[in-house]
Amino acid sequence: MTKRIAANERRTSISKTEVFASSRLALQASQTHQIDMHVLSPILNKLLSARRSKRIKIIDVGSGYGYLAHQRFGANDQLDVIGIDINPKFVRFANEHFGSNHMRFVTADIEEFAPSQPVHLIIMMQVLQHLREPEATVQRYWRFLVKGGYIVARNSDDQLNITYPDSQNLRYLINETNRIPGSPDRNFGRRLFSMFRPLIPAPNSLSIHLLPQMVTGGTKNERAGFFDEMHGFRALYAERAAERTPSFAAKKRSERFKKISIRERRRFKTDKELFAAEVQIFASARR
Ligand SMILES: C[S@@+](CC[C@H](N)C(=O)[O-])C[C@H]1O[C@@H](n2cnc3c(N)ncnc32)[C@H](O)[C@@H]1O
Repeated sequence: MTKRIAANERRTSISKTEVFASSRLALQASQTHQIDMHVLSPILNKLLSARRSKRIKIIDVGSGYGYLAHQRFGANDQLDVIGIDINPKFVRFANEHFGSNHMRFVTADIEEFAPSQPVHLIIMMQVLQHLREPEATVQRYWRFLVKGGYIVARNSDDQLNITYPDSQNLRYLINETNRIPGSPDRNFGRRLFSMFRPLIPAPNSLSIHLLPQMVTGGTKNERAGFFDEMHGFRALYAERAAERTPSFAAKKRSERFKKISIRERRRFKTDKELFAAEVQIFASARR
């Protein structure tokens, strides 16, 4: 996987920050693959058996670099997937690497996009926290589904993040992230149930799953990867905030975030006894 990403990155000549973001999303997509499939496989099986040989239409909302859609759906050409993302560079990368006659990616604002036909499955993985009006958006996409279709959303929640031995530095990173101006809500997972419950028309079924990710038994690189997935973005948020609104305090915070991130990443990598776990929250509603 690492080699493949490196080769991909060379082909599109994207900037250093983007390479980091791309690698992080690739890593995230791999690390959440198993828990995503725990929720998605039964849904796909139901849709496939109900539709027999007909095609299943899927929207991946906030598809990033396309890794996630490719890994979850790429192998089955009965699935017609459209990924939408606001960032044209991500979309270009996704089409170049994962585009096919049953998977394509388009540049669009989630809060404005509408599909040309009803669809069977909509996924919103780690994306609602970025939107101005997440509730209204979920309700709008709910109407894009055929009867019997599904929306699945996944979000993490920083309060469900445990580490032993813990460290004040790591807690500082986690607690301070939500105070960075412009940073998306990192305690979003808890909101999913209240957001899906009032959907109109009322869901035929609504399930909430809490599925953990852990570092146990991981290699050095897997433990460092866990840190990158759960905490790597925090220094990036602080850096971007300091660039957007320069001030002494913002610059100091960004430097502190970077220093702590480097130290904590090393701790995750080298301490074989360290235990870390985070819970991902899924909401899955059937129309
Ligand atoms: C945290 S990433 C998640 C990517 C992917 N779903 C995954 O889990 O690997 C959030 C993605 O949502 C996209 N995004 C954020 N706001 C958006 C909007 N208003 N319209 C379209 N895409 C948006 C970002 O560009 C980014 O690719």
